[in-house]
Parts: sequence; structure tokens; C-alpha cells
Amino acid sequence: MEARPFPSRALVLGAGTMGHGIAQVLAAAGAEVELVDTDAAALERALGRIRSSLERLAAKGRIEAAEAEAALGRIRPRRSLEEATPQAELAIEAVPEDPALKKELLRRLEEVLPPESVLATNTSSLSIDALAEALDRPERFLGLHFFNPVPVMALLEVVTGRATDPALVPWARELAARLGKEPVVVRDAPGFASSRLGVALALEAMRMLEEGVASAEDIDRAMELGYRHPMGPLRLTDLVGLDVRLGIARYLESTLGERFRPPAILVRRVEEGRLGRKTGEGFYRWEEEPAAPAREGSQGA
Ligand SMILES: NC(=O)c1ccc[n+]([C@@H]2O[C@H](COP(=O)([O-])OP(=O)(O)OC[C@H]3O[C@@H](n4cnc5c(N)ncnc54)[C@H](O)[C@@H]3O)[C@@H](O)[C@H]2O)c1
Repeated sequence: MEARPFPSRALVLGAGTMGHGIAQVLAAAGAEVELVDTDAAALERALGRIRSSLERLAAKGRIEAAEAEAALGRIRPRRSLEEATPQAELAIEAVPEDPALKKELLRRLEEVLPPESVLATNTSSLSIDALAEALDRPERFLGLHFFNPVPVMALLEVVTGRATDPALVPWARELAARLGKEPVVVRDAPGFASSRLGVALALEAMRMLEEGVASAEDIDRAMELGYRHPMGPLRLTDLVGLDVRLGIARYLESTLGERFRPPAILVRRVEEGRLGRKTGEGFYRWEEEPAAPAREGSQGA
């Protein structure tokens, strides 16, 4: 495969939490982006969020106002893949975490896009190899795992499957740099690098809480002050959602074994509906506390 330039045309499928942010950073870096969502309201919301995010960045002096306007002008909303121009050099899917849906869309992308286009998934937990089964040319497919909120979070996890062309790795590193991200390259494995480590730490923190080793506040403070984590693992679990982390722990237990078995305290809290900030209580009570911005929002967190 020849060296690839930064994509001048990109397709983003799904205009939700992640898709709108991915479209924004691609457009801000100069790509013409078609943003596809079957839900008209989601598309409208996405464009509104992109506009206000770009305006905020311009107000802070992080980009020129004219640049913000130009980036917005490079994003075209589309209600279906058929409405999009079939010329994108890069397509990233950010539709819900449903393997059947993702495989179906990847198959359709392969049909409509030129054979040299790169296809990517933003999945936070599904196997790249399993998704690649949908493709005739899996060598041009890889994971590009962005974090939420995309314009703010510096990490891009580049996930290679068994069939991924190794030449895509330097290309993805370059792409990350153009998008203002720091890449890490990970072989396809459950939880990739970020979720696996993040969840391992959180599960151990929960076991410590269960065993009465220390309070939630002190466990978190130990990591924040002693290890310079911006946020302790229990507080972060409250922000991500206890239900989300339970789902990931169960998946990692099924793939990597017993060390990811969810502690009883997590299972019980989820059964009780104490899901974290979104329900007002998880390991902390959130009624009084102003909502702090999540430092890690990945569903894979
Ligand atoms: N939310 C996070 O923090 C986060 C972080 C990293 C990765 N991810 C991953 O990103 C992906 C998207 O997550 P999200 O949180 O943005 O989801 P979301 O529910 O916010 O957005 C998904 C969007 O896809 C649209 N959609 C559904 N079917 C479609 C179709 N056939 N064609 C086009 N659009 C379609 C929906 O209308 C919706 O707007 C998932 O794979 C998730 O695991 C999420």
C-alpha cells in the first residue's frame, strides 16, 4: 500500500456523542466531512453541538473565528449512506455498540467506497477481528478509538486487527497528529489498552471499599495525589456510569477470565439503580455537587 495523505474527504457514520466530535476534529483539520445519521433530530443536534464547540474554541483563542466557520462549512449532514458522495478516503463508523449493525454498515461502506479507502470503527469494546469478518478487504480496516469529548481528549487508541495492513499504523499516527491527538497502538484484544487497565483499577478500588480498607474518598485521593491521576477510580466510575462499567467488567471476565469478575458491591449498586452521577448516587452522592466534566467518558472506560 502506498503512503497515504491526510484524507481530504471523510465519511462519519452516526452523529451521536462520538460521531459529531469525530466529524468536528476532521473538519477542523481540513477534511470535507459527510456526517451520516438516519435520525434527523440527531443530525440537527450534532450540528448545533459542533457549532457551539467551535465557537467556544474560538472564544478561548484556540482557533481563529474564521477557521471555526470554515470547519463548520466543511461538514455536510446526510440522512443515509446513499445520499453521500462515494469518494471518501476515510470512513469512520460511530453507530451504537451493536455488532450486527456495525457489520452491516461496514459491508455497505465496502460496497460504495473505492477499494483503497480506509474503513475504521470507533468501537470501545468489540473485537476488530470479529467486525472484519464482514469485509472482503479487511486489510484496510482498523479501530480508531476516540474518547469523549472528542475535541478535548488527547488520546487516540489505534487498534489493529490480524488482517490490518501494517502500513496503516504510520498513517494512523500521522492522522492522530493532524487531529491534535496522541496515538497509542494496540493489538486487537478485549478492552484494548485503555478500558482494560481503567476497569482493572476500578474493580480493585471497589474490592478495597468492600473490604473496608479505606473510604471511597480516601481511595480516590490516594490515586489523585499519590499517582497524579486527574480523578480517582471510584469517582470516575460514577461519571462513566456503574452500569456501563459493570457491562464492560462482565465482558472482560468472559474473555480474559476471573480477574475481571465484578465485585458484589458493583452488582448490588447497579441492581439498586445507584448508577453514579446520572442517578444522583453511585459511590458518591451527587445532589450537592456541581457536575464536574468527565475526564474519561469512553463507554469502554
Ligand atoms: N460515548 C462514549 O463515551 C464513547 C467513547 C468511545 C467510543 N464509543 C463508541 O462509539 C460508538 C458510538 O457511541 P455514541 O456514544 O456516540 O452513541 P450515540 O448513541 O450517542 O450515537 C449513535 C448514533 O448513531 C446513529 N445511528 C444508528 N443507526 C444508524 C445507521 N444505520 N446509520 C447511521 N447512523 C445510525 C443514531 O441515530 C445515533 O445518533 C459506539 O461504538 C461506542 O462504543 C463511545
